Amino acid sequence: MKLKNKVALITGNGNGIGKTTALLLSKEGASIVGTDINEKSGKQTVNEINNQGGDAIFIQHDVSNDDNWKSVINKALSTFGTIDILFNNAGLFIIKPLLETTIEEWNHLMNVNVTGTFLGMKHVIPIMIENKGGVVINASSNAGLFGATGLTLYGASKGAVRIMTKDAAMEFAPYNIRVNSIHPGYIKTQMIEYAAKVANKEPEDQANFVPLKRLGNTLEVANMVLYLVSDEASYITGSEFVLDGGVSAGQSVWEQEE
Ligand SMILES: NC(=O)c1ccc[n+]([C@@H]2O[C@H](COP(=O)([O-])OP(=O)(O)OC[C@H]3O[C@@H](n4cnc5c(N)ncnc54)[C@H](O)[C@@H]3O)[C@@H](O)[C@H]2O)c1
Repeated sequence: MKLKNKVALITGNGNGIGKTTALLLSKEGASIVGTDINEKSGKQTVNEINNQGGDAIFIQHDVSNDDNWKSVINKALSTFGTIDILFNNAGLFIIKPLLETTIEEWNHLMNVNVTGTFLGMKHVIPIMIENKGGVVINASSNAGLFGATGLTLYGASKGAVRIMTKDAAMEFAPYNIRVNSIHPGYIKTQMIEYAAKVANKEPEDQANFVPLKRLGNTLEVANMVLYLVSDEASYITGSEFVLDGGVSAGQSVWEQEE
């Protein structure tokens, strides 16, 4: 087991990437502090972990709320004594033309995706400093790497997460704290179902834009997170890890035959 005696805090543990990662890190021996704004799905993940012999607690949590973070930290420390791993995974997705995006939508998404990631690092890194080590993974996106129509708001938030990750990696490297970002694209979750709905398509139709010609699955992302939080990645910090089936590699200059 790669994460024996480690405690991992995972935000947005109720669905998609957060859920699969919580299950995988638990299988590798970590105790899990799962948090989500959605109590029902967050609890469901934690029940699955505990039913499989793992050790997990759920705390309802809005990542954009500073006071919520204080309660999460208190509960995590009183239950498990420490936090070794932070996966800032919770996030919102809005596809909308810039001119139709309201200031309320802008502030709400930025509060969850950017402020939530900032608050996670602000509240958990002091514990890691005391421990003389720790690992943070921030969920960015391939939309944080290049432009796309309708993604001004989401892309701006994920671009911010990308650079915050590098800033934090620089600041906390002297404390043996590694901070990296992951940049998924077209992973089959409720987010991709929403994107398909906006485009009036089926989720699988989005695979047409992917060089590997399929959507990714949440286990492929969870495996990347597992690698990055394990000691196997001990020399990696401030780096960005893309999992998007080749989407961000470049442009097709002609239709490719199979
Ligand atoms: N699915 C993809 O293709 C994809 C691509 C790029 C990046 N991402 C990023 O990966 C992360 C996970 O995405 P996913 O596809 O698993 O999404 P998802 O919608 O399946 O799960 C996100 C979870 O976050 C929770 N959440 C939402 N707002 C919250 C808040 N304020 N506080 C706490 N929890 C909250 C939701 O309840 C949900 O359980 C997100 O940050 C997303 O932007 C996903």
